[in-house]
Amino acid sequence: MFNPEVYKERRDKLKKSLGSGIYLFLGNNETPMNYPANCYHFRQDSNFLYFFGLDIAGMAAIIDIEDNKEIIFANDVDMDDIIWMGPQPSVKELAEKCLIFESYPFAKLNDYLQNAIKKGRKIHFLPPYKHDNIIYLNSVLGIPFTKMKEEASVEFIKAIVEIRSVKEEREIEEIERACHIGFLMHTASMRMVKPGMVEREISGIMEGISLTYGSVPSFPIILTKNGQTLHNNYHGNVLEKGDLMLQDAGAQTAMYYASDNTRTLPVGGKFSQKQKEIYEIVLQTINGSIPLIKPGITYMDVHLSACEILANGLKNLGIMKGDIKEAVRLGAHAMFMPHGLGHMMGLDVHDMEDLGQIYVGYDENTRPSNIFGTSSLRMGRELKEGYVITNEPGIYFIPELIDIWKKEKKFENFINYQKVEEYRYFGGIRLEDDILITKNSSRILGKTRIPITIEEIEDFMN
Ligand code: GLY
Ligand code: MN
Repeated sequence: MFNPEVYKERRDKLKKSLGSGIYLFLGNNETPMNYPANCYHFRQDSNFLYFFGLDIAGMAAIIDIEDNKEIIFANDVDMDDIIWMGPQPSVKELAEKCLIFESYPFAKLNDYLQNAIKKGRKIHFLPPYKHDNIIYLNSVLGIPFTKMKEEASVEFIKAIVEIRSVKEEREIEEIERACHIGFLMHTASMRMVKPGMVEREISGIMEGISLTYGSVPSFPIILTKNGQTLHNNYHGNVLEKGDLMLQDAGAQTAMYYASDNTRTLPVGGKFSQKQKEIYEIVLQTINGSIPLIKPGITYMDVHLSACEILANGLKNLGIMKGDIKEAVRLGAHAMFMPHGLGHMMGLDVHDMEDLGQIYVGYDENTRPSNIFGTSSLRMGRELKEGYVITNEPGIYFIPELIDIWKKEKKFENFINYQKVEEYRYFGGIRLEDDILITKNSSRILGKTRIPITIEEIEDFMN
């Protein structure tokens, strides 16, 4: 936890932008894997962590504006818990760690809320994503399961997004720490990967490094020779000389701040000429985006400029053709990059995605696109000092997508399908850095950038 005052200051700041009513924060519970006592790694809800800092299952909190109260609801451990889990602080002691001086057993939350409902008071809640919390809200507030998202409080969501988007200095330090762990994970893989290894032999070591220095990785590691599948979590392939291996992995610190980096390596330690040509385009795109990333510009504009760099590179290879600005405007490049350039990052690797992408990545001035590819951009709005985002362009040859578009003769003016066939089994290349928006520009997070040029990667691997 940070100092107790940090959480109080954050709540005070939040309260300034809240209206009237009761604002409910549901923490997370333990989640069984295959029987009740065998649980997944516990992860507290990030909003709960941000405003209360308590990394404990089974808690809830409220901020009651009219009654000027902040209350934690949770159960004290009993002797049985102490026997199995060891001594635990009381809920009162835990609440004091975030400067809250009123606490009750969890069951009292129901009474508090029912009482408020009887008085016609509004209960604001955030979009739940855990089934037990959805069931709780249904049973206590009577909200139908299918209406949970639309009944969540937009005012509450917007107030939190406003605050959590701008990272505090102490949060940036934590993210830097996560990036350093990420550096150790990615470079360990670079040292290790050899033909004949199974993907999981490498992803397992990377996961272990994250655990050793902080917590579990910030999301399930993507490590695959089939990088054309964007979120490929299957780690059972044998790596062969000449394969590309895409590794998209991030760490979490002990306080759950995330990193998220991607590198693509040549198995055997040397890129082929064909691999080098595609790799250089992705490298030009990630590097070409950096000078564009600064306060005042929308990330939608950076995304579109990055796609133009990428599509121009593909045109130079004869894979795309025609007016590239127009091709990107219409979405022809999305055959090769069907995802967005990046997302917010902080306590969540896709920061605040539980609150709704429309509120996190967009605003009244920047609306999401409905064009395939650009519609997957999670963060489009204007950048501000203190935001942390990812910059992650990629080029993929997805045989199933090629076949459909080719059959439909889609964007024939912009895509040279005959040439594309030469790359049918190429796979995919993605490169990803984490970026802090500074006062007038931006910088890559992490003390040392993970090797990224062809020369750096080949040197490192050999
Ligand atoms: N690194 C995985 C993702 O950004 O979705
Ligand atoms: Mn990412």
